[in-house]
Amino acid sequence: MRKKLPANLFKRGVWLAPIAGYSDVGFRKLCYQYGAQYTFCEMVSAYQLASKNSAKFTALDISDIKTPTGIQIITPNATILISSLLVLNKLIKQKPYCHISSICLNLGCPVQKKSGAYLLNNLELIEQLFSALKQHATLPIGAKIRLAINETDKKKKIYLKITKLANKYLDFLIVHGRTLTQLYRGSVDLEAIKQIKQIATIPVVGNGDIKSPQDAELMFKLTKCDAVMIAREAMKRPWIFKRIKDYFATGKEQVIDEEKERITCLKKYLVYQRKYNIDFLHTRMHVQLFLKNKYPQLNLKINSASSVAEIRRIVEDIK
Ligand SMILES: Cc1cc2nc3c(=O)[nH]c(=O)nc-3n(C[C@H](O)[C@H](O)[C@H](O)COP(=O)(O)O)c2cc1C
Repeated sequence: MRKKLPANLFKRGVWLAPIAGYSDVGFRKLCYQYGAQYTFCEMVSAYQLASKNSAKFTALDISDIKTPTGIQIITPNATILISSLLVLNKLIKQKPYCHISSICLNLGCPVQKKSGAYLLNNLELIEQLFSALKQHATLPIGAKIRLAINETDKKKKIYLKITKLANKYLDFLIVHGRTLTQLYRGSVDLEAIKQIKQIATIPVVGNGDIKSPQDAELMFKLTKCDAVMIAREAMKRPWIFKRIKDYFATGKEQVIDEEKERITCLKKYLVYQRKYNIDFLHTRMHVQLFLKNKYPQLNLKINSASSVAEIRRIVEDIK
């Protein structure tokens, strides 16, 4: 029988979202240290996993074994999903992959035109994919969905049909409360997430627009979801997890010196960069996001850096 994720993750848990191109091992560790209780590696395609054409699976870098981490797979094809799960099942018997603790199917990506959120109307295919996960995965399984492809489908409450399928096959369901066509426009539909939670027999993770402890509190209060998940705020200010943790523990917002925290973050990330040998592009992206808007001159210099060593030299003088 498949194991479940630890129950505490679903008791007002606060998770880091899968973020393609961003959620590398150093960033996940940073967020975990700030209080993110669960994290995801960068999304991988089932095809890539199945064909083993990425020898080291950089996106699956799990070399920090202490950060609780799941993987996210994207595919429109149940046969390829099964092949990828067979590869994964072997992989997770090896170090360090044995520390992956869940598998999440991506049904929310608005970028890859034949998979992710583009599948949301195809209940037959979704059922095949969920069923493949249930039959062949050896870890807890979930899916991350958007509400529908567009407003018309949302009005038909396609998301409730998907929830019923999730109840039948999965262990958890993550919901970004927007449609595909919305991309990041408009606001998150907390009422729809609440409706999902009302019929779900598995834990529901609410996602979208959490930028403050109060936003997280509202998501929990209005939707009654079991955990929340954060992406964009964490990319710029990973200490959002600490803010939420402190607020939930004390009922008060702790004062955080943002300027100082940015530099602390940056320096910590550079320590992890060295430890886990994180590549230049990820490093530059994170460093620039941590400095964004506050240190324009430094950011310009980092923009033209061509190696991690150069980035280190540029940030060396920051007090
Ligand atoms: C740069 C970027 C990359 C993302 N990559 C993924 C991904 O690989 N898988 C996924 O399910 N969602 C991905 N998302 C969506 C986020 O996980 C999240 O659902 C969305 O940003 C809403 O949450 P937020 O308001 O906290 O940002 C990505 C978002 C951004 C901004």
